[in-house]
Amino acid sequence: MFTGKGGVGKTTMAAASALKYAAVGKTLLISTDPSGSLSTIFGCSLAGRVVPVGENLEAVELTRQLILKLWREKFADEIYTVLSSFLPVGREILDYIEGAPGIDEEFMLDYLLTMARSGSYEVIVWDTAPTVTTLNLLFVQRLFYSHLTAAQKVYLKVKSVFHQVDPLALIDKWLQLTADIITLLKTDTRAWVVANPECLPVEQALDIAGALSDFGIGVNGFILNKLLPEEVCRGHAFWNAKYEAQQLWRRHLDASAGSRPVLEICDLADNLNSRAGLERVIPFLAPE
Ligand SMILES: Nc1ncnc2c1ncn2[C@@H]1O[C@H](COP(=O)(O)OP(=O)(O)OP(=O)(O)O)[C@@H](O)[C@H]1O
Ligand SMILES: [Mg+2]
Repeated sequence: MFTGKGGVGKTTMAAASALKYAAVGKTLLISTDPSGSLSTIFGCSLAGRVVPVGENLEAVELTRQLILKLWREKFADEIYTVLSSFLPVGREILDYIEGAPGIDEEFMLDYLLTMARSGSYEVIVWDTAPTVTTLNLLFVQRLFYSHLTAAQKVYLKVKSVFHQVDPLALIDKWLQLTADIITLLKTDTRAWVVANPECLPVEQALDIAGALSDFGIGVNGFILNKLLPEEVCRGHAFWNAKYEAQQLWRRHLDASAGSRPVLEICDLADNLNSRAGLERVIPFLAPE
């Protein structure tokens, strides 16, 4: 996964890495950012569908619409059977449940899990939404897990009301799904945290690296993106001041990163939102 503050270069790094991985094995590039820009980079709509965008490379931008459609296909019938067995409700109850906070986040990660389990890809590169949204996405998992654990107790008390269906079996299934997602994140996921050499992006990068580690997600390291080249800045008061300010935050990140590597990418002063742009980024990425 590629994470970090808004606008720092997550999508660019994720897409360039995906191209790099595609040279060695089948790769899927997924964006869970509702305002994602992968479609612009690859020059075709990736909203809500998996599209081949190169040799060994497929990409998709997850939309709320797609996620809720998949949610309905997978779970709606079961939920309706449970609810309608003790409440006089029609299927419109599903519209109501669909609007509950966290449902789309939960199933975005279910989509990742499904793709990971499909066995079709060697690597899945996950381009995330900016920091806070992504952390919410992760913490909703834990919340959902404890919510379902509490739900088990509630349903046990009212078990006698149900005929034909066993809501506990459904809750067990959901609990298992959430546990599987948490396992996927903890065991098969590695994060690169992207930052620009400025105060807030660096501070946020350090915070998110800490939060990911606490969650149990391995952090590969940091990508410090858009460094100004010294030779271009020297001799110009404005650019020199900017260069010095960047160096301050570069040193701060280096000092705080501990044993984690900090990859550096200079400002390429060009539009990178194309395949050719991504090719320029690849040489800076870690050799894995
Ligand atoms: N090293 C670089 N040199 C020049 N331009 C860059 C560099 N890295 C990224 N950019 C450009 O900066 C802009 C923002 O990058 P990108 O979209 O990858 O950031 P992001 O973190 O995904 O943003 P968001 O939080 O909005 O999703 C893009 O136009 C991209 O082409
Ligand atoms: Mg992005």
